[in-house]
Amino acid sequence: MVHKRLAFIRTFGCQMNERDTETIRGLLQQEGYGFTDHPEDADLILYNTCCVRENPERKVYGQVGQLQELKAKKPELIIGICGCMPQQQEELPILLERLPHVDLFFGTHNIHRLPELLHRIYATGERVVEILDDGGEPVEGLPALRNNDFKAFVTIMHGCNNFCSYCIVPYVRGRERSRTPEAILEEIRSLADRGVKEVTLLGQNVNSYGKDLKLDVDFADLLELINEVPGIRRIRFTTSHPKDISDKLIRQLGRLEKVCEHLHLPVQAGSNNVLKAMNRRYTREYYLEIVEKVRQEVPGISLTTDIMVGFPGESDADFADTLSLVEKAKFDSAFTFIYSPRKGTPATEMPDQVPEEVKKERIYQLIELQNKVSLELNQALVGTQVEVLVEGVSKSDSQMLTGKTRTAKTVVFPGNQGLIGELVKVKITEAQTWSVVGELI
Ligand code: SAH
Ligand code: SF4
Ligand code: F3S
Repeated sequence: MVHKRLAFIRTFGCQMNERDTETIRGLLQQEGYGFTDHPEDADLILYNTCCVRENPERKVYGQVGQLQELKAKKPELIIGICGCMPQQQEELPILLERLPHVDLFFGTHNIHRLPELLHRIYATGERVVEILDDGGEPVEGLPALRNNDFKAFVTIMHGCNNFCSYCIVPYVRGRERSRTPEAILEEIRSLADRGVKEVTLLGQNVNSYGKDLKLDVDFADLLELINEVPGIRRIRFTTSHPKDISDKLIRQLGRLEKVCEHLHLPVQAGSNNVLKAMNRRYTREYYLEIVEKVRQEVPGISLTTDIMVGFPGESDADFADTLSLVEKAKFDSAFTFIYSPRKGTPATEMPDQVPEEVKKERIYQLIELQNKVSLELNQALVGTQVEVLVEGVSKSDSQMLTGKTRTAKTVVFPGNQGLIGELVKVKITEAQTWSVVGELI
């Protein structure tokens, strides 16, 4: 019997990258590969990488560095690095030099070329490096092997045009390219046919969906089309840029019954000086106005955000503005980050870089405040009834199930595993900072 080749894939970064990994798995499956969770059993080890901050990059150097031993024992093993790290012009030569045992490098624009690149390695035994500068039109019809039977990510657009001054994403993902509504709907219909109930639409800035197409369809229209797909029960999307959120979209959020009452709206900072230097192109006042409008149009909506501390030039007063915005906006939760300088972005060259200790002190304060707000908002839910999509068994207690409300809150409750993948009604009985506890009704 021929040995079935096994692949081990490790994914860093955002949901886009997770979705790309599903395509990679689909392509490898077509090539006859199986999958393993143990690198030592693998014939192919692939790292799908992220470079948005220094930390995930450092992990890749560390973990892939350690594979040198395995490769020495098993020379036929193929090790590959793909995704955003090798896509950075300045990082690629460093990767090539520091990780001499890596056989394959490809970027974000040529995932579909993976089978061909692997064949080239098998045929020549030589290192293969292929990075394309430009995305071109979205490639359709690629297979995907998804991990979950009832919820799915659907990429609706690639790239970003915004060039926030701290951010590497536009350099490694190219300009905005929207998939056509037909291609998106076809994917979602076939997911629904297979029993998927919840879709999360992905793009770096979904609010600018369609602007690059020669069609008269914007993101609000796309939501309306997806809302019609039978079988789909919940629609989520991420990420929205505050500068591009339209009144039309806010109305659709309130009107379309499948669109969940949750908006992830990264604010990044609460000070107008910092927002300007970040090239975010909105003010604190404008952001708070949107929050107000959204809450009026969609009562009970939950609001989450991304916030960064320690951007170059951020003074104590600027940081105090971030804290006061957090108090005013009342986010249900926030991803908080310490600014990390990225090669090739304008912010790296800005004067007045903030010292590490100051950044750390600020992020502690920010997290403490946000936790207080999150807990208060969760406490207000005690006694209410919510719809939960059951996602799995709780990691800490096998008698408990976990799932998400339409407002993207994690709910933990006693129940039987047969409910996984179902929509159930739960009464909230207890609040914690990052989740709530409940019981089935
Ligand atoms: N497109 C999305 C976010 C993509 S990156 C948006 O615009 O909201 C996810 C988050 O990482 C960002 O919202 C930002 O808060 C953070 N981030 C991006 N670049 C960073 C950097 N250089 N240092 C620290 N955090 C960063
Ligand atoms: Fe980065 Fe800004 Fe684009 Fe988001 S909108 S991916 S933060 S450049
Ligand atoms: Fe990271 Fe690339 Fe996503 S840099 S955040 S994996 S787009």
